[in-house]
Amino acid sequence: MEETQYLDWNNSIQILNKAYDAGLFVLIIGPKGTGKTSLVREFAKNKNVNLESMNFSLRTRESHLIGTKTLKDGNVSFDEGLLIKSMRNGDILYLDEINSAEADVLLRLDEALDDRRQIVLKESTGEVIKANDNWFVVSTINPLTHSGTKELPPQILSRFPVRIRLEYPPEDIELQIVKKYISGDHESTIIQAIKLANILRQAAAVEELFYSPSLRETIAFAKLLDKGMMPKEVANIVFGNVYTQWGDIEYQKVSDIITSMFEN
Ligand SMILES: Nc1ncnc2c1ncn2[C@@H]1O[C@H](COP(=O)(O)OP(=O)(O)O)[C@@H](O)[C@H]1O
Ligand SMILES: [Mg+2]
Repeated sequence: MEETQYLDWNNSIQILNKAYDAGLFVLIIGPKGTGKTSLVREFAKNKNVNLESMNFSLRTRESHLIGTKTLKDGNVSFDEGLLIKSMRNGDILYLDEINSAEADVLLRLDEALDDRRQIVLKESTGEVIKANDNWFVVSTINPLTHSGTKELPPQILSRFPVRIRLEYPPEDIELQIVKKYISGDHESTIIQAIKLANILRQAAAVEELFYSPSLRETIAFAKLLDKGMMPKEVANIVFGNVYTQWGDIEYQKVSDIITSMFEN
């Protein structure tokens, strides 16, 4: 993994710090690839606190949070899940895309998130696990416009009273971020790519296109440019081709925009 300094362009680290000190859990809301995971990693690194991360999906089960019984050398033991571990250790627990989990998983999580900050380990000894005072939880959700995302139940939402919005950054900020990942200059071409990305994002926001490119794409564009590839070819590879997934008409719309923006 590359080590790149996170650019805290909207003061999110400070909000996270205040929430941490106040013992208030945080929800980060924003589309994919706007820096949510990087933000929390940077925050944990600055705090020098251990970070445990879980990515939620429809396949996430209670056992992933709580733990599972295992058989070792004829003895049954209990392998604690990340929720329990992080509560014991006072870690930062990062729950990514929490709204994609099933209701029963969220219900079990809710037991730990309520003001008592404890959970009954009914799966093994019945022990009551009380969270370390430093235990801190940060979750993310994608906006509901994204297909496949579910609404987070209000009761879970209320466990995260601090809400940070992380949208796509303004053009000049995105340029600064992207330039952190390359050694060359290419400034004017990268600005074009960011403009293209924003056109596609706006079209996706009003459902004229099916896909909204993220900072991952603008960073990838700059990296390929830095390897000596031609701008138009890179624009097609990184921004254009993906739209063939929704058919030729969708692809052609984007291809025309690319042709009008990049000469070679
Ligand atoms: N503010 C930023 N400073 C530096 N890099 C960033 C920033 N925001 C996003 N990135 C980079 O953009 C990419 C996507 O970010 P990521 O944190 O994975 O987004 P998300 O978790 O919202 O999907 C990563 O390569 C990340 O390092
Ligand atoms: Mg992420």
